[in-house]
Amino acid sequence: MCGIVGYVGGGDAAPFLLSALHRLEYRGYDSAGLAVVDGSAGSMAESVGKARSVGVTEGRDGTGAGSARLVAVRRAGRIAELERALRESRLPEGGCGVAHTRWATHGPPTRANAHPQLSADGEIAVVHNGIIENASLLRERLGALGYAFTSDTDTETLAHLVDHLWSPGGPLEGAVAAALDRVEGTYGIAVVSSRDPGKIVAASLASPILVARTADGISLVASDAAAVADLTRSVTWLDDGDYSVLTASGPRTFRRDGGEVKRAVHSVSWDAAAHRKGDHSHFMRKEILEQPASLRNVMRGRLLHGSGDARLGGVEAHGDVLERTRRIVLTACGTSWHAALIGAHLLEELARVPVSVEYASELRYRNPVLDPESLVIAISQSGETADTIAALDEVARRGAPTMGVVNRVGSAIARRSDFGLYLHAGPEIGVASTKAFTSQLVALVLFALHFGRRRHLSVERGLEIVAALEELPDTMNAALAIDDEMRGLAKSVAGADNFLYLGRGLHFPVALEGALKLKEVSYIHAEGYPAAEMKHGPIALVDRHMPVVVLAPRDGVYPKVVSNIEEIRARGGRVIAVVSDDAPELEGRVESLVRVPRSVNVLQPILTVVPLQLLAYHVAVERGLDVDRPRNLAKSVTVE
Ligand code: M6R
Repeated sequence: MCGIVGYVGGGDAAPFLLSALHRLEYRGYDSAGLAVVDGSAGSMAESVGKARSVGVTEGRDGTGAGSARLVAVRRAGRIAELERALRESRLPEGGCGVAHTRWATHGPPTRANAHPQLSADGEIAVVHNGIIENASLLRERLGALGYAFTSDTDTETLAHLVDHLWSPGGPLEGAVAAALDRVEGTYGIAVVSSRDPGKIVAASLASPILVARTADGISLVASDAAAVADLTRSVTWLDDGDYSVLTASGPRTFRRDGGEVKRAVHSVSWDAAAHRKGDHSHFMRKEILEQPASLRNVMRGRLLHGSGDARLGGVEAHGDVLERTRRIVLTACGTSWHAALIGAHLLEELARVPVSVEYASELRYRNPVLDPESLVIAISQSGETADTIAALDEVARRGAPTMGVVNRVGSAIARRSDFGLYLHAGPEIGVASTKAFTSQLVALVLFALHFGRRRHLSVERGLEIVAALEELPDTMNAALAIDDEMRGLAKSVAGADNFLYLGRGLHFPVALEGALKLKEVSYIHAEGYPAAEMKHGPIALVDRHMPVVVLAPRDGVYPKVVSNIEEIRARGGRVIAVVSDDAPELEGRVESLVRVPRSVNVLQPILTVVPLQLLAYHVAVERGLDVDRPRNLAKSVTVE
């Protein structure tokens, strides 16, 4: 959610910033901007006195120390709009700059609210992820001091605050650190100024920021390794409360409450092809079709065929924690929360351990009963979700051990958890999560197996599940063969205004997930409900216009679900039944019968969700929508 990138070094910053913004666009895409300071990073002498106009700049371009000049350009809309504006003139020149792609929090996605936000004289530019919680108070105080605000953003208060606290002749970092001392909330920021050219000051508090240096002397800052991967694969994540001063001689990191610190350098792997759509029309489709491979990856080297168990290196090293665990709390948001609901069934069934599931956004504000005998498992694709990070921090304060089930290697949640499991699903770019969900389910099955085999799970049941896992990538392949059928079905239902998704047991969370997928990418109102609960209210909504997707795999509650389907038919509803086998009871009695391959009950949700992913995708395409970048959303939700 919102992407930040910055560059200090030889050559011009702007071309790199623009290409990096494209790699960050999935994080937020309602407006974008950049600010470049010339007279910086070794080019200063050449730039002195070369003040110029690039024709498309903001009204407040600032000339600071000597003749250094800050040029900022912002546009509402996609990055293409910013590029168009810059192409109409020429790119701002200068070897130091910052850029941002925004997902609006304060104020609508207009040009005025786009980042960078500038000081009144245009000499300071701030890009910011996160939320300044005391922005109203700061706005009032700065207003009383004569600062005029031109945006609705919380970020503008930071730009004015840095200006206000800047000691004459002092460095940019002094002013930024003083400003951050007065700020409450979360932030990843990068600040440049023509008063102190050739420098970026970056800081992080519960919003990820990395710094890096290339072999040829370029210093970089970003909210996401994707932004810098073309130039370097070695990055350093700032800790909460760190700030870093980046110049052409490299980044130097300090504690806001202390001296200079050295943080570990991490290697990030980067597969450029995995970040491209290739021949696919959309990332969402590519990622749905990648599921046989992503399932293979999450299981690689982890299945123990002889003992019906799972080998989980990162978890086994913490066997003492598992030994004393009496209760598990699963916490997550969105699709990952749906995986948690299924995970609770799996863990209770296979490991006979009590499990509760909490929205990460709620856990922190309750008074959860946690102790060293509770294990809290945070599930997240991005590893960056602010609510999940905040929940983990609260859990750590209460002394309970934490485990992460995360896709993004080295992400904040991976780093904050005591131990964990990676999904290895590869980058997920489409905003609607698909392959990460099915990999989360497999990771949870593996953990439940591992935990269960140490408790009550028989070797026979373990072996049965391991055998089914082994076959799962091929079974997934077979499930995907339904693609064309779902395209046809999508045509017939794309005009509906409302959908209902029903399921029971393990398939109630699948119903929730199907409804969420449809809402996100097609903007059709959809609700997921436990099938038997329908008669306690939602059945009032059913009429001949309402598609009702019913998950009816052949499991212990199949006959009950068939009865639920009859109740919908009796009210004229359009039933789409997803079944896992021959379903003679439903043949000719529903509008569509969608068949997925059958597996053992704990793996069945991984297959029944596939037609729901494809249906959402094809309905959105049918409605002509931007599937990978649905309105109002962003891939990583890094604000609470
Ligand atoms: O990265 P996370 O798994 O922590 O993200 C959690 C949710 O924001 C995410 O699953 C969201 O609901 C997706 N857009 C769902 O498709």
